Amino acid sequence: MIVCSANKLAKTYGGNAVFEHLSMEIKEKDRVGLVGPNGSGKTTLIRLLAGEEPPDAGQIHWKKGCRIGFLEQIPDYHDTTLTKDVLKSAFSSLLEMEERMKKLEDEMGVETDSTKLEKLVVEYGNLQDQFTLHGGYEIKSRIEKITHGLNIHLLMDQPFSQLSGGEKTKVGLGLMLLQEPDLLLLDEPTNHLDLMAVEWLGKFLQDYSGTVLLISHDRYFLDEVVNKIVDLEDGEIHSYYTNFSGFVKETNKTKKGRS
Ligand SMILES: Nc1ncnc2c1ncn2[C@@H]1O[C@H](COP(=O)(O)OP(=O)(O)OP(=O)(O)O)[C@@H](O)[C@H]1O
Ligand SMILES: [Mg+2]
Repeated sequence: MIVCSANKLAKTYGGNAVFEHLSMEIKEKDRVGLVGPNGSGKTTLIRLLAGEEPPDAGQIHWKKGCRIGFLEQIPDYHDTTLTKDVLKSAFSSLLEMEERMKKLEDEMGVETDSTKLEKLVVEYGNLQDQFTLHGGYEIKSRIEKITHGLNIHLLMDQPFSQLSGGEKTKVGLGLMLLQEPDLLLLDEPTNHLDLMAVEWLGKFLQDYSGTVLLISHDRYFLDEVVNKIVDLEDGEIHSYYTNFSGFVKETNKTKKGRS
């Protein structure tokens, strides 16, 4: 099943074509590493795939209902919003459900009419089933797992707006991982992470249930996470079904073969 396909994309900045006629496909569960020299157009391409910007020509199709998570999208929050509330926003519909359940509990406690009480009990039961099914009782442990993994647990009680750029990026990454999008698009996700967090993120992405496309200059991280390499160079794209070391070997071979 194809999650995202790009057909003959073109993008030009100030008269300079970054690429023309660029086509690629991302399949479900793929772990794609997008590599290439500085300025080759990796960030430009990932922004198009995220729907952040339209291409100048060509089309992009996403699987119906596909939810995209793009690391650059760090939302703005009101000055006083605490970092933990930013992360909790990943679960806003579950938290609304929890609020409604609390209200129903209060109403059930004081209701004397048996028909009305029965109605409340039925609504409560249905809500609780949905809440359980969608992991409502695991919200706290999921947030803890990710905040410890990314080493941002000590920032939780600080206002988000007062964090440094690097800290905001880490929290943005945490929020996106909690939202569990179908297609995760990450532009240099290891840039602001310490070694432990890089290792944790690598393992997290290996086990991730959705599809992942990431840009990275970190060959160890790429080797750990990806099983397909897409190389963008001189406006052309070449795909290799291997990790980064395999890609290096294969392309060296190609070069030797050519000379
Ligand atoms: N908003 C913009 N306005 C003008 N030129 C741009 C813009 N964004 C990108 N470019 C140009 O497009 C080219 C591709 O840039 P892009 O950021 O996509 O490269 P990259 O492969 O992500 O590089 P790096 O590995 O350094 O992050 C570069 O020549 C860059 O200068
Ligand atoms: Mg870039």
